[in-house]
Amino acid sequence: MTAPAGARSDWTIDQAWDRYTADEHAVWTTLYERQRALLPGRACDPFLSGLDALDLHRGGIPDFRRINLELMRLTGWSVVAVPGLVPDEVFFEHLANRRFPAGQFIREAEQLDYLQEPDIFHDVFGHVPMLTDPVFADYLQAYGQGGLRAAGLGRLHNLARLYWYTVEFGLMESAQGLRIYGAGIVSSRAETLFALDSTSPNRLGFELERVMRTPYRIDDFQQTYFVIPSLDALLGATLQDFRPIYERLASAPDIAIEAVLPTDRVHTRGDQAYARERGAISK
Ligand code: PHE
Ligand code: CO
Repeated sequence: MTAPAGARSDWTIDQAWDRYTADEHAVWTTLYERQRALLPGRACDPFLSGLDALDLHRGGIPDFRRINLELMRLTGWSVVAVPGLVPDEVFFEHLANRRFPAGQFIREAEQLDYLQEPDIFHDVFGHVPMLTDPVFADYLQAYGQGGLRAAGLGRLHNLARLYWYTVEFGLMESAQGLRIYGAGIVSSRAETLFALDSTSPNRLGFELERVMRTPYRIDDFQQTYFVIPSLDALLGATLQDFRPIYERLASAPDIAIEAVLPTDRVHTRGDQAYARERGAISK
């Protein structure tokens, strides 16, 4: 797919930081302060220390030139600006080269809680702090390489579920209880509360093949979250060659989005009350 007009062939654009308006900077600051107050005791330690290390609160939308100095020094990653969602292969190619594509634009002040496409707040506040962690940094690069391979094997929909249930909506064990590391949760006030405190969703132990067989919701809170014991355990589980797994998955049925299996390690069995109220399930 060719890049849109004004973008480079790898779909990147200049962030053009000097052109953000005062209103746009104010949206960042509002969102930042709201999430920063909510996250201690809820987000995992690597996220919180990454947020501090990058100092994303210098006054408005961060300048990629500045955060990249620190990010590059810590883990060799950088953030690059893109107009919006990019094609899968372009996305994987960036990740495989330790570049994280981030939307250049920010949501409107009237839409603080609703997003159709990931904006700079979701992408930078949500994703970039975890990239300061060396283990997570290696995981996301490996995911990019694995994405290119999965596309060639026709199993991208299975691999995408791994991204969804880890990078976007992952929970992690800690000595003090469950903590968030997924960007889709930490960048959303409502889902931060829902993911940890609601009686509705299941919270199940992460199991690679099980995750790859579980569909997900893109339009509402998740019905199931998967909990990793640690980032090392996550990286460890994905170091193996996925080809034999993909071969098994070709004849393995999907698992219902709200199902709890006898083989699951259950942290919480959800009552799915929220999903039922929203008409997501009939039983
Ligand atoms: N090991 C995977 C493969 O063989 C690649 C991968 C690594 C995918 C990490 C996701 C995360 O395809
Ligand atoms: Co995201």
